[in-house]
Amino acid sequence: MTLRIAVYSGPALTPMLPALSRLRMAVFRAWPYLYEGDLAAEADYLADFVRAPTAGLVVAFDGQEPVGCSTCVALVEEDAGLTGPFLVRGIDPARVFYFGESVLLPAYRGRGAGVAFFAAREAHARAVSDCDFAAFCAVVRPEDHPARPAGHVPLDTFWRRRGFTPYPDLTCGMAWREVGGDSEIDHTLSFWIKSLHGKPLP
Ligand SMILES: CC(C)(COP(=O)(O)OP(=O)(O)OC[C@H]1O[C@@H](n2cnc3c(N)ncnc32)[C@H](O)[C@@H]1OP(=O)(O)O)[C@@H](O)C(=O)NCCC(=O)NCCS
Repeated sequence: MTLRIAVYSGPALTPMLPALSRLRMAVFRAWPYLYEGDLAAEADYLADFVRAPTAGLVVAFDGQEPVGCSTCVALVEEDAGLTGPFLVRGIDPARVFYFGESVLLPAYRGRGAGVAFFAAREAHARAVSDCDFAAFCAVVRPEDHPARPAGHVPLDTFWRRRGFTPYPDLTCGMAWREVGGDSEIDHTLSFWIKSLHGKPLP
């Protein structure tokens, strides 16, 4: 079965936000994010996202049902927690398009939706900006983390095949409550970067 992929921006984003929130909360509960979804935090996050003129949302549909989502926005429209690490590293945030989450229900993985999420976001970034680079970040977990599932295959190879290079020393912090926890805890995420137009990586 082929999933239908659609890209939303501007006012057309708004009706898709409940699906994005629902999929974020479902998929990020699992390793490695262990995110205990919080509707108030989701609402704040989505309100900021939808206000950004460069925001793009890619949705994978099974029939009429959204089963996966992926977001992107110019990095300059994000807050200092995300732009700061680039400034410290001497990378102008205005040159970077930020790729947010990709969340796909497990039953639909391995059919090309994740590849399509990257292709659609890169096309969106090129269409709405002249940014040189795309960047995303992923949570860093210790090898011996007690919740790491046996045999878990990290996405590193998948991301490298999409053309991204890891920057383990370029990191940001994000706090969220983990499943079973009672308060938010800080997490470190490290960035991956890809050149969008052939400019050498920073
Ligand atoms: C990240 C995520 C969206 C990837 O989704 P996915 O749909 O399984 O990924 P794909 O099926 O596109 O790609 C997986 C592999 O299958 C291949 N593939 C299978 N069928 C394919 C098809 N029809 N077309 C293209 N590629 C296909 C891809 O090429 C890829 O292999 P490669 O890396 O060797 O090229 C999914 O794993 C996920 O939701 N993970 C949990 C959340 C998460 O950690 N997100 C990332 C941080 S926000």
